Amino acid sequence: MNRAIGTILLGVILMAAPADATRAANVHHDTYSPDGSIRVRFLLEGGRPRFSASVDGAVILNPSPLGFRFRHESPLVDMFKVTRVESRSFDETWEQVWGEDRFVRDNYNELLVTLRETDTPHREMEFVFRVFDDGFAFRAILPEQPNLGSFEIMSEETAFRFAGDYTAWWIPGDYDSYEHLYREGPLSEVVTANTPVTMKAAADLYLSVHEANLTDYAGMTLARDGSVPNALLCQLVPWPDGAKVKASTPMVTPWRTVQIGRRPGDLVESHLILNLNEPCVLEDTSWITPMKYVGIWWGMHIGKETWTKGPNHGATTENAKRYVDFASAHGIPGLLIEGWNTGWEGWGRENAYDFVTPYDDFDIYEVVRYATDHGVSIIGHHETGGDVPSYEQALDVAFALYERLGIRAVKTGYAGSIFPRGHHHHGQRMVNHYRTVVEKAARYGIMLDVHEPIKPTGIRRTYPHMMTREGVRGMEYNAWSEGNPPEHTTILPFTRMLAGPLDYTPGIFDVFFEESNRPENRVRTTIAKQLALYVVLMSPLQMAADLPENYEGNAAFRFIEVVPCDWDETRALDAEIGDYLSIARRSGRDWFLGTITDEEGRRLEIPLDFLEEGLEYHALIYEDAEDAHWETNPTAVTIREILVRRGDVLDVRLAPGGGQAVWFTSPEAGTR
Ligand code: NOJ
Ligand code: CA
Repeated sequence: MNRAIGTILLGVILMAAPADATRAANVHHDTYSPDGSIRVRFLLEGGRPRFSASVDGAVILNPSPLGFRFRHESPLVDMFKVTRVESRSFDETWEQVWGEDRFVRDNYNELLVTLRETDTPHREMEFVFRVFDDGFAFRAILPEQPNLGSFEIMSEETAFRFAGDYTAWWIPGDYDSYEHLYREGPLSEVVTANTPVTMKAAADLYLSVHEANLTDYAGMTLARDGSVPNALLCQLVPWPDGAKVKASTPMVTPWRTVQIGRRPGDLVESHLILNLNEPCVLEDTSWITPMKYVGIWWGMHIGKETWTKGPNHGATTENAKRYVDFASAHGIPGLLIEGWNTGWEGWGRENAYDFVTPYDDFDIYEVVRYATDHGVSIIGHHETGGDVPSYEQALDVAFALYERLGIRAVKTGYAGSIFPRGHHHHGQRMVNHYRTVVEKAARYGIMLDVHEPIKPTGIRRTYPHMMTREGVRGMEYNAWSEGNPPEHTTILPFTRMLAGPLDYTPGIFDVFFEESNRPENRVRTTIAKQLALYVVLMSPLQMAADLPENYEGNAAFRFIEVVPCDWDETRALDAEIGDYLSIARRSGRDWFLGTITDEEGRRLEIPLDFLEEGLEYHALIYEDAEDAHWETNPTAVTIREILVRRGDVLDVRLAPGGGQAVWFTSPEAGTR
């Protein structure tokens, strides 16, 4: 799996820059996307490295700085000459272990520029640019060299000087959390932001800035550059002592990425982030299995059950068996159990958990035996409360217990400030911690679902057992905060989801959960929209988040039973970011279509161009009833079946805060 299919290397052009020419203060080198539409320019302006970009001849990024400032060494920002320029082209198609599309084309033109200081200490710095049809990326390299050994980066000087005050969607540049609502507004209003930051530059031009392959480096946030209009600076998440990155040569930075599309959906279909990561390093990936799961989870968030032991303890042997029975009866392969281990009374305190001792009303051996007998896989849980040193010490023992029990997936959590205090979730120390856990999990054959994570940057290509993560303001906020407004999930596919899968945990049917006595809390969607989220939001571990009793007897649950969470093909159709969108995904020869809207009701006409030519399909439609409304009548779902073919146009009626989910099967193709 994950092997390269048909590698074509179109040749390497080496341009050893002539000595005199490189002394010139101003030089530039252009690289074009394979289709010729995107041009990325590397420039040396008076000895200062810069990059710029244009699409179809229109500038999107004016010359923007590159370079570094250090704690001790003099900065690497100017007084350079170009000593070497290399370019090459690459075209390969590779296969994913799981994902949005089974096959991924990786096609780009690359430029490597080597710079050398014109004066002592004559240090070298390199930049690699890759230009794809769906955007571009660059990274800096500090090669091994006599006059640069170990160092502390105080600032990465990378900036993005956009050519206009584009419309942007962003969350604040919080160093510890991505659990925020997105804001929409002019780029000039962005003060700080976590990536991906997405922009509409023109009616037919969309961009998104993020990073790929974040390895042994600090996470990048963006901050307004007060001195240049529409410019965002790279602001790395600091160590407690103010350093941003502690490293030594040779060092490469993560890729700085700009995804580019004509339609919002082009961003969703882009594989640029994955393509900038290394191929899979695991020899055997057969144990990595995407799955839906239920969980002893929502009950705690709505206050019906507790993580701690007590009269309403969620993780009891008996309750776990009830969930196993439900999962097994409905063909849901996974069951997450939170609150199974001692320590929850001390959540957030040092050394609260040992990650191996079950509460005495939870017989872990009996639960696993019962689950296995019923064909259900337990998903383990490690909440650290931010106590990372204790978790690192316990990791081997904790994973070994799960391995021994045959538990093959674990949800981790970092809810709380990081120990030792002063570290941030998104700093270099934690980036390395999250990676240590990924590497260790591989050794124990354990898939991961990380909450309060570092954002995804495509490392799932290299480590496909890094299944999914939170890093999003998910369903839980509806349980105990003012909640997520209806438009939230119409923004996520074009922002957070561009980075990678998200464990949003959809599927709440009892949107009012009145018995929990929190009248101000509720879910702000219709049930049909909850169903559509299974197609819209990608997660290879995908939760059916509600309590079993809220699913029992509801015909709409059938859609959750049948919808896959691993896909052969994805097409992002009609969309306006923050208003509505429609995504079609294929699994085998079946198609699934999910359409959602914000607080506005709408009618959309969706051409069924994705269906296979010549086949007749049964379209099983789950949609908002005539009088459905997220606020007043969220549970009214109509289920109907029609016959359709490629080229037909589906009339989609969405209630305010509503959605529609469709399953297309073709008896002719033998799929149902
Ligand atoms: C926050 C996580 O997002 C949530 O899913 C989990 O239940 C709690 N922390 C407890 O670990
Ligand atoms: Ca969380």
